Amino acid sequence: MRNLFPVSGFMLSVALIGAGIASTFAADETLRSYAEKNDIYIGAILNSQWFGGGLPAQYEQIHKTQFNIVVAENEMKFDATEPSENRFNYNNGDKMVKYAKQNGMRVRGHALAWHSQVPNWVNNYKNDKKKLLSVLKNHINNVVGHWKGQVDEWDVVNEAISNNEPMWRSYSVWYQGIGPEFIDSAFVWAHAADPDAELCYNDYNLEQGVNPKAKAGFLLEQVKRWVANGIPITCVGSQTHVEDTTTDKHFIGSPDSLRSLARELAKLNIKLKITELDIGFKSGINVSKSDLERQGQTFRQYLDIILEEPNADTYLIWGVSDKWSWLGGLNRQKGLIYDDNLKPKPAFDSLLVRLQNFEPPQDTIVTDTTSSDTTAQDSSIAIAQSAGPGSVTMHVAGRTLFIAGTQSAKVDVFDMRGRPVFSARSENGSVELKGIPEGLYVVRVRNGSASLTKRFAIK
Ligand code: G3I
Repeated sequence: MRNLFPVSGFMLSVALIGAGIASTFAADETLRSYAEKNDIYIGAILNSQWFGGGLPAQYEQIHKTQFNIVVAENEMKFDATEPSENRFNYNNGDKMVKYAKQNGMRVRGHALAWHSQVPNWVNNYKNDKKKLLSVLKNHINNVVGHWKGQVDEWDVVNEAISNNEPMWRSYSVWYQGIGPEFIDSAFVWAHAADPDAELCYNDYNLEQGVNPKAKAGFLLEQVKRWVANGIPITCVGSQTHVEDTTTDKHFIGSPDSLRSLARELAKLNIKLKITELDIGFKSGINVSKSDLERQGQTFRQYLDIILEEPNADTYLIWGVSDKWSWLGGLNRQKGLIYDDNLKPKPAFDSLLVRLQNFEPPQDTIVTDTTSSDTTAQDSSIAIAQSAGPGSVTMHVAGRTLFIAGTQSAKVDVFDMRGRPVFSARSENGSVELKGIPEGLYVVRVRNGSASLTKRFAIK
């Protein structure tokens, strides 16, 4: 369970990032150590050069020291794992899974159904819906089945939504040959192959707001439908390939917009994960020290979503060092947290200082003003009033949740990774919160359209 009060430890850090003064940290203070203290995952790809053995040893040393989650840049995609029909190649994936297990890391699988990096033999069946369905089902059964219990989460479907308008991407052998229902089937098959794996829909440009015209708005409508239909989706992956705000005037994304998607997904009990983060600058421009410090602040703002939103738990960067990054293909540069010489950039410092100083958010422990009940003075747990007069309010004393403003309400309690840990109906204005271990939680009280969600800590 999340450490509520991270040990400050003996810090050698002189954290003056604002002044751009380099900071040094104690050896045991890593992104990974703080991620684990806060029950989240911070990671990076193992890039394709790693699989080929062409990297300096320092790359892997940094990777396993700083990160607790890993994904293969290309080596678990369709073309890599089933290069010819029904002939599977797991060698590189096995190498990564072995590395992850040796280093106690969580594993992301990327990606089962995607329009890109599909081997040519699949396109031979593009006009045969029945065959295409059996090809996709066979691929998922074999690949997910091979790594059952070893790959903790999958990008089941990647980039199925059009870039430009709120609709499905038509340029896709799966969409063209089967229709959008390939998505529903892919999730059902993946769940059957590994019922314990988390199953994500993954896409980019989801940090541009949740209005119906935006990609995330269209996705949200699909997630609501999938959830209502019992499709076993558990998470949305936001790739978050963004450009520094000063060099891309057209870029309309922002951390706040992504946070709004996280909050909408929380209502559906679906997680948000940042899965491919890089914050690049236009290629060819001179990137100054202040540019790199601003980049560091943007990296931190995206990390804040993972630290602060109860249904967000993963912060994965699409690379370790600027020396090896796909960004050149996108006419961008310097989008990662280590430089060409594998030295930490201001963005690394910005993340570590934020983690050092992060206290899990919780409501002010206040005396509840709606009750004369002296137990409400109980300092062990209380919940700040947040609703206005006449609406639903709640507070907790001891292990009892008191609800005012409604006689009957549905109560759900989630841990800080968005997993439901308790559910009950209150009929008389109170509920006993039984069997909940110490920790930080989010409690949601719903009565028809009225809904109140607050965090509290049981010490
Ligand atoms: O393996 C071949 C090699 O045999 C050949 O010699 C070489 C030169 O042609 O190409 C190699 O394949 C390349 C592959 O990366 C492995 O290095 C492909 O050409 C190249 O297109 C491919 O690029 C990858 C890209 O996905 C493909 O769409 C990038 O490395 C990878 O970072 C990028 O990752 C994607 C995510 O999967 C989905 N989200 C977007 C993200 C960036 O595009």
